[in-house]
Amino acid sequence: LVAGVDSSTQSCKVVVRDAETGALRRFGQAPHPEGTEVDPEAWWDALQAAVAAAGGLDDVAAVSVAGQQHGMVVLDANGEVIRPALLWNDTRSARAAEDLIAELGRAGGGDAAAGPAAWATATGTVPVASLTVTKLRWLADHEPENAARVAAVALPHDWLTWRLGGAGCWDTLTTDRSDASGTGYFDTAAGTYRRDLLSLALRRDDAEGIVLPRVLAPARAAGAGDDAAGLGHLVLGPGAGDNAAAALGLGMSRGDVAISVGTSGVVSAVSAEPVADPSALVAGFADATGAFLPLAVTLNGSRVLDATARLLGVDHAGLSALALAAGPGAAGLTFVPYLEGERTPNLPAATGSLVGMSLASMTPENVARAAVEGLLCGLADGMSAMEAQGVPVERVRLIGGGARSEAVRRIAPAVLGRPVQVPEPGEYVADGAARQAAWVLAGTAGPPEWSTSRVQTYEAEPTAVRDRYAARRHLVAERES
Ligand code: XUL
Repeated sequence: LVAGVDSSTQSCKVVVRDAETGALRRFGQAPHPEGTEVDPEAWWDALQAAVAAAGGLDDVAAVSVAGQQHGMVVLDANGEVIRPALLWNDTRSARAAEDLIAELGRAGGGDAAAGPAAWATATGTVPVASLTVTKLRWLADHEPENAARVAAVALPHDWLTWRLGGAGCWDTLTTDRSDASGTGYFDTAAGTYRRDLLSLALRRDDAEGIVLPRVLAPARAAGAGDDAAGLGHLVLGPGAGDNAAAALGLGMSRGDVAISVGTSGVVSAVSAEPVADPSALVAGFADATGAFLPLAVTLNGSRVLDATARLLGVDHAGLSALALAAGPGAAGLTFVPYLEGERTPNLPAATGSLVGMSLASMTPENVARAAVEGLLCGLADGMSAMEAQGVPVERVRLIGGGARSEAVRRIAPAVLGRPVQVPEPGEYVADGAARQAAWVLAGTAGPPEWSTSRVQTYEAEPTAVRDRYAARRHLVAERES
């Protein structure tokens, strides 16, 4: 048996599967604390609770941990966590991102405007507040005494894998390409750290001496579990960022695009070539198999549905029924759902807007429809940005909690202008981690062929709402700048 862990923003989930066939044997989960600043110890507690709920690991041979990307876990010289982790959806480092972009532009002999291209060339990604590098700069600016104590920087999945191994010494602190590529101090195309960018972020000349997790090749073991905790029989996989693990769990290959409607809305695609987009719409990340996984990430995913359902006093099924009862285009109502600022496009301080209100359009049905269309238009823009970077878009799969909504499933093909496949609801991130663990055990060139879940295909007549949304987004962007 193998186990896969998904340490996500909201909870920790553990699947236990047969290493050869991939058949699901057990599942457990435990919640994470709310908020965008979390003590990593809470993730460890949740992991242990989720493992217990999944029947323990005594009969499991290997485990891999996948996790929410970018979270800044800073450790002191004793390996202790210095302060609560700042998560990917914490936007306090938006200003730090701007500063870092301008500084690298100037460092290259140009001006601040040269910054985005300089970052895209250096790392594959232009920093936004989500990236670890900006959080480190925020630390240097606002908590210099903490920044001076940083002896090692890890990501959520790195730290949890380290804990499973007993956290004995720095040598066992590891990561993988997919998560390293989301730090902002990793050259994704070359597969090496950019320590100069770490120094720049932390404003420290001695950043050469800061421990960064060893970047393991796909399917290379991170080590063994902690003997003292009864985990000595476990092989630890390298783990991955959650989006890369989902790609592995879904069995994605070139031409496949996953649109995940979770806390974040993520458009990701498998690409044989690295992507470096100076417009900052596409993040040029790596995947968990040795290829690349360009992403476009919005901060406003399933919580747009949650907030609208609350506003209308209905549950999710009720929201879906209302949205499907309205006509395409919601009688002209446009809901730009920047409820938590936005990341793609990069507008961290933006708020949402509901416009086009008239006696005809102000019905619960149209508000519900506009929420779904607004959410999907953001994702459709991410997909177009990906195509503009030359990433092939052949099959679109819709996953994540939001994909359980019938309205999202039925309206997605209309907004995206192409058929959408919806796999059975599943724990794709944890499954991808489990598949990686099986791959590590097998020692084969590629991951094991596990049977993939059945998909249901949704098709619809295209709806002409994207231009209206694009115009409105443009106005918001202008106001913000
Ligand atoms: C990816 C990102 C999110 C988190 C959510 O860049 O920020 O998808 O990984 O878990």
